[in-house]
Amino acid sequence: MAARNRLPPWHEHMRLRNGREVLIRPIRPEDAVPLRAGFALLQPEEVRQRFLHPVKELSVEMAERLTRPDPRREFALVAAEPLPPGEALVGAVARLAVDASDTDAEFAILVSHYVAGMGLGRHLMRRLVRWARGRRLRRLYGDVLESNQPMLGLAASLAFRRESAPTPGLVRMVLELPPPKPRAPLVATV
Ligand SMILES: CC(C)(COP(=O)(O)OP(=O)(O)OC[C@H]1O[C@@H](n2cnc3c(N)ncnc32)[C@H](O)[C@@H]1OP(=O)(O)O)[C@@H](O)C(=O)NCCC(=O)NCCS
Repeated sequence: MAARNRLPPWHEHMRLRNGREVLIRPIRPEDAVPLRAGFALLQPEEVRQRFLHPVKELSVEMAERLTRPDPRREFALVAAEPLPPGEALVGAVARLAVDASDTDAEFAILVSHYVAGMGLGRHLMRRLVRWARGRRLRRLYGDVLESNQPMLGLAASLAFRRESAPTPGLVRMVLELPPPKPRAPLVATV
């Protein structure tokens, strides 16, 4: 269950199925250090599922890049301990990046095994979709290893459909967003 009373935009408290409380919020530059520390505790398979190839460590440059999304084209949320950014451990990161089409965005998500299976993946994916709708994007997509049943199942349950991905061994999961309703014209009243 998520609560948003008196919090800044895109912030919400969420109680996980095991009773643990997390804060969902936009990623912050201060998250770079906890992100690098947390990365070392991930299992190689989780990392491969997220990055689609083995990654030994999150370099300083990569952590900086991930924690400073371009606000015009990217959106990234974390699920973190309810502590100040920099102190808080980060359990999950979900991001969208608008591609060169300007209408489509690619998603990527990693929920660490410490907090997986408790509803965070579904919640974060829904928030990415909400951001994309607000930006009037046309489609969301993400390339998923064809062996990654949890992500394929999650995406399918959110109405993403399968397409063949440009790379063998991957499935592209795609969500077409309905065209936004035209804004009502301003009618002068006399
Ligand atoms: C895939 C992933 C994001 C799911 O996150 P999560 O927080 O564990 O997911 P949730 O608890 O919200 O579960 C949502 C749905 O995912 C699917 N799912 C989750 N864990 C699953 C498992 N072990 N086996 C099969 N399906 C599973 C189910 O459809 C589930 O729906 P349900 O709760 O109604 O059964 C997470 O496992 C993860 O980060 N994996 C490693 C990185 C990755 O694969 N990223 C995707 C590529 S970008």
